[in-house]
Amino acid sequence: MTTQNLLDSLAAEIIEHHVCSELADGATQLVMGDGNPDADIVFIGEAPGKNEDEQGKPFVGASGRFLNEMLAAAGMQRKDVYITNIVKYRPPNNRDPLPGEKREFWPYLMRQLEIIKPKVVITLGRHSGSAFIPELQISRDHGHARKVQYHDSEFLVMPLYHPAAALYNGSMRQVLIDDFLTVPATIAAFETNA
Ligand code: URA
Repeated sequence: MTTQNLLDSLAAEIIEHHVCSELADGATQLVMGDGNPDADIVFIGEAPGKNEDEQGKPFVGASGRFLNEMLAAAGMQRKDVYITNIVKYRPPNNRDPLPGEKREFWPYLMRQLEIIKPKVVITLGRHSGSAFIPELQISRDHGHARKVQYHDSEFLVMPLYHPAAALYNGSMRQVLIDDFLTVPATIAAFETNA
């Protein structure tokens, strides 16, 4: 079985188990993830928007273009990372995902990470960040990685601002890019201390 096969089975299971069935009823499709399933870096956003719902891929609208720009600044492309969301169906009218929706998807997100086994998980925005780090204060904690334990798994998690917050704010844009540029050194530092 390839990593992609395992992710495809997990997606089938989400559909079969009617996870967030109300959201599923209002959405075009499940947006499982995109990129390299064997990547060292996994980005986790909040939930699909209109473009993502239509195309079946995360971060393909304006936030996605900024994400691509951020990757390019580090000499990377989307095919070098894996991108997903906590909640994998579009909430109606792009409202924020509800706590119960994040809770329902959480065990599937954990299994998705256990399949991919990334070196670092990068959360985008407070919904995703505070799911891993409950006491998160994004203005204080952005760019700082820490180890997070879930059952028998341990993930290195770096919270970043959400690209949508940075879209029209030049200084926040640069903060996001600068934080992202530290990722290789962060991975190396944690590997040395492991
Ligand atoms: N914002 C998100 O959090 N996720 C997407 O997939 C698109 C926009």
